[in-house]
Amino acid sequence: MQMNAPAPRNAIDENRQGLIGKPIDRVDGRLKVTGKAPYSHEVQEGGPAAYGFIVDATIARGAVAAIDTAAAERAPGVLLVMTHKNAPRQAQWGPLDTPDRYARASPQLGSDRVEHYGQAVAFVVAQTVEQARAAARLVNVRYAPEATELELERHLGQAEKPPEQFGQKTDSYVGDFDAAFAAAAVKVDSRYTTPFEVHAQMEPHATVAYWKDGKVTIHCSAQLLKSAQKAVASTLQISPSKVRIVSRYIGGGFGGKLPIYGDVMLSAMASRQLGRPVKTALTRQQMFHFTTHRSNTIQRIRLGAGADGVLTAIAHETWSHSARFDNFFENASMQTRSLYAAPNRLTTHRSVKLDLPISDSTRAPGEAVGMMALEQAIDELAEKLAIDPIELRLRNEPAKDPELGVPYSTRNLVGCLQEGAKRFGWAARKAKPASTTDGRWWVGMGVAAATRGNLLMPSKCLVALDRNGTLTVRMAMTDIGTGSYTVFTQVAAEMLGLPMERVRMELGDSEFPDTPGSGGSFGAASAGSGLFDACTQLRAKLARRLGVDVAAASFEGGRVSGASRSDSLAALAGAVGLEATGEVKPGTMAKQYSQQAYGAHFAEVGVNMDSGEVKLRRMLGVFAAGRILNDKMARSQATGAMIWGVGSALFEDAVLDPRFGCFVNNDLAGYHVPCHADIPAVEAHFLQEVDDKTNPLKIKGVGELGVCGAGGAVANAVYNACGVRVRDFPITLDKLLSGVGRLTGE
Ligand code: MOS
Repeated sequence: MQMNAPAPRNAIDENRQGLIGKPIDRVDGRLKVTGKAPYSHEVQEGGPAAYGFIVDATIARGAVAAIDTAAAERAPGVLLVMTHKNAPRQAQWGPLDTPDRYARASPQLGSDRVEHYGQAVAFVVAQTVEQARAAARLVNVRYAPEATELELERHLGQAEKPPEQFGQKTDSYVGDFDAAFAAAAVKVDSRYTTPFEVHAQMEPHATVAYWKDGKVTIHCSAQLLKSAQKAVASTLQISPSKVRIVSRYIGGGFGGKLPIYGDVMLSAMASRQLGRPVKTALTRQQMFHFTTHRSNTIQRIRLGAGADGVLTAIAHETWSHSARFDNFFENASMQTRSLYAAPNRLTTHRSVKLDLPISDSTRAPGEAVGMMALEQAIDELAEKLAIDPIELRLRNEPAKDPELGVPYSTRNLVGCLQEGAKRFGWAARKAKPASTTDGRWWVGMGVAAATRGNLLMPSKCLVALDRNGTLTVRMAMTDIGTGSYTVFTQVAAEMLGLPMERVRMELGDSEFPDTPGSGGSFGAASAGSGLFDACTQLRAKLARRLGVDVAAASFEGGRVSGASRSDSLAALAGAVGLEATGEVKPGTMAKQYSQQAYGAHFAEVGVNMDSGEVKLRRMLGVFAAGRILNDKMARSQATGAMIWGVGSALFEDAVLDPRFGCFVNNDLAGYHVPCHADIPAVEAHFLQEVDDKTNPLKIKGVGELGVCGAGGAVANAVYNACGVRVRDFPITLDKLLSGVGRLTGE
C-alpha cells in the first residue's frame, strides 16, 4: 500500500479487542530483567570466539610514521595483530553523496593516515579479552602529527554551506527577512551555544562476527539492519547477500547506532582470517571518539514582532562542525521553518570541517538543541512584550505550514499548551523573575513548545499463521529499547483477532523482510504499517477460506466470523499454514500535508541562592502525536526524552581538549547525564489524536519528540527563577553565580 490518500477506517480504529492504546507491559521485559535477552556481546555462536581489542590513535591528524607490533605478537594468547600494513583490501571511504549515509563503506586500517583522535591504528586478537587488551598496550606507534583545526569558534571563517541532508534543503528564505526585522517594533537578537554531546547509551557497541561458506554473520548493535548490511558489503567488497546482520536486543541507540563502526569491520576481517568467531567490544572511553557525537553549535536567532506580539520576521542560523572527511551538519534551524507563523523568514545551516571524529545524528538531531535556543528566544520576546509566553505562542499559531504552504495533517500545539497549563498550574507563575522563593532557593517555571517531523519510510513484512493458530511476524526491524516488540505484537494481535500470546514477533535479522529500522522516530509508523499491510493481506486470505467477504468478516478471539459462518484461525490456516506479505510506501500525503508531532513542556526549577545550583523540581510534557499504540510505552519514550532534555540543559558537555582533539571527560563519571537524584516527578500526557494522513495506523513518531523543547523549558524556568539568562549550554552553576550574587547583594 502507498499513502496517496487518507487512510480509511480500519481494524485499528475498530480496536475490537481493545489492544491498541492499552498500556501493556513489554513482551520482552521478562527476558531482559532475567538476563535472557542476549545483547551482541553475549551472543555465543559459530564456535569459541577469539577477542579483539582496538588500538586507537592518540593524535587528531597526521600519519602513522612507524608501528612496531613485535612485542604484541609475542604476547600470551595473541592470534593476530592487524595494522594498515597487513589489513585486507577494502573499499575507499564513502561515497559522501550517497542517499544513505549509514550504508557507506568505512574501511578500517586502510592507510597510514590518522584523521581523528581515537581512530583505529591497530587491532589485536587473542584467546581472551584480557590477553587482547594487554597486548594492545604493547603495540608501539610513532606518529607524524600535523597541524589541526579543532574549534568551531576559531574557524567560523571557513564555514561552508553543506549539501542538503536527509532530503531537507540546507537554507530557506521566505519574504524579506532583513527589511521586516529592521522595521519590527520589538526585537530579539540572541546568540546561543550548545556543547558537544555524546549518545551515552547503556550498551556499548559490540560485535561477534563469524564466517560460514563464504557468508559472514554479524551480531552487532545496529539501529538500521539494511544499512549495516550494505555498509559491511561495500566495505569488504562482497555481495550484500553474503552479509547477515543480527541485532535482536539493543541497549539504547540514540542515533549512535545508526552507523556501524570499526568493531564490526575489524571483527569480520579478522574472523575470516582466523577461521573462528571474533568478538570485539568498545570501551566506554573508546566510544567517545571511535563512534559519533553531536556537534557543538552556535545559533543566532532573530525575532521581530509588533507590539501585539505577532511575529513579522523570524530567522534561525546554525553553525556546526563536520569531520573533515564528512559533510554532516546539525540541522538545528529546521523546526523553525514550520513552528510559528511569520511572513518573513530565514533559516540557514553552515558547517566547518574540523579534525574531529564524525558528528552525526544524536537524540533528535536538530530539534534537541535547536529548540533549546528557539524556545528561549520566544521566552525572551515574551518578556520584552510583557505577554505571557503561552499567549505569545498562541498568537503566532500558523493556519498552514508557513514555508511549505500546505496544511498540517494534524497540529494540536494549542491544545498541548492549554492542557499543560491547566495540569501544571501555570496560572501561579509570576512573570517577574526571582519573585518566588522556597528557603534559600528561587523557584521558577518555564514553558516551551515541542515539535518533531513525522516520517513514513518504505517497509516490508511477512506474517505466517501456523496450524495451531500462532502468528509469526518477521521484519528486519529493531527494538532499541523503544518497545517495538510490544507495539507490533499489539498491532498484529488486534488485526488478526488473536491474544498477544499467540503472536511471535521476530525482529532483528537482516534476512527478514526489509524495513528502514529504528531512527528518526519513524520506526513504529513505518514497520508498523508494513505489518498492518501484511495482516490486511492475511485477513483477506482467511476470509476467502471461510467463504465470506473480508469487509463483512470479524476477527476476534482467535476466530474469523461473518455471514453466519465462523471458524478458528488454526483451522483456516490448515496443516501447512498460511502466509502473507505486506509493504508500505510513502506517497503524496507526505507532500500534501505538513506532518509533525507536537507537545508542550512545563518545568519548575529551583536555583540555589548561595551556590547557583539548579535543581529540577517537577516537569510535565503534554503531547499530541497521533494515535498512541501503547500508553505505557509512549509515556516511557516521552519521559525518557524529557530527561535527555534536562541533561542537555543542565549537565551534558563533552569537553574538547584543543591540544589533542580529544574529549577529556570520556566516561560516564566525567560526562554527566541526569541520575535519579536529578529527576523528581517527570510526567507525560498524550492528548487524543488520530491522524489519517500519516499512515494506516494513524500514528506519529514519538521516540524523539519528548526531547524537543524540553531543555528550552528548563532554561526558561531557570531564568524565571533567578533572572539570569544563560544562552551558553549547559546551564551550570558557574554561569549563574555572578547573576545570583547581584540579586542577593552578596
Ligand atoms: Mo535518532 S538520533 O534519528 O536514531
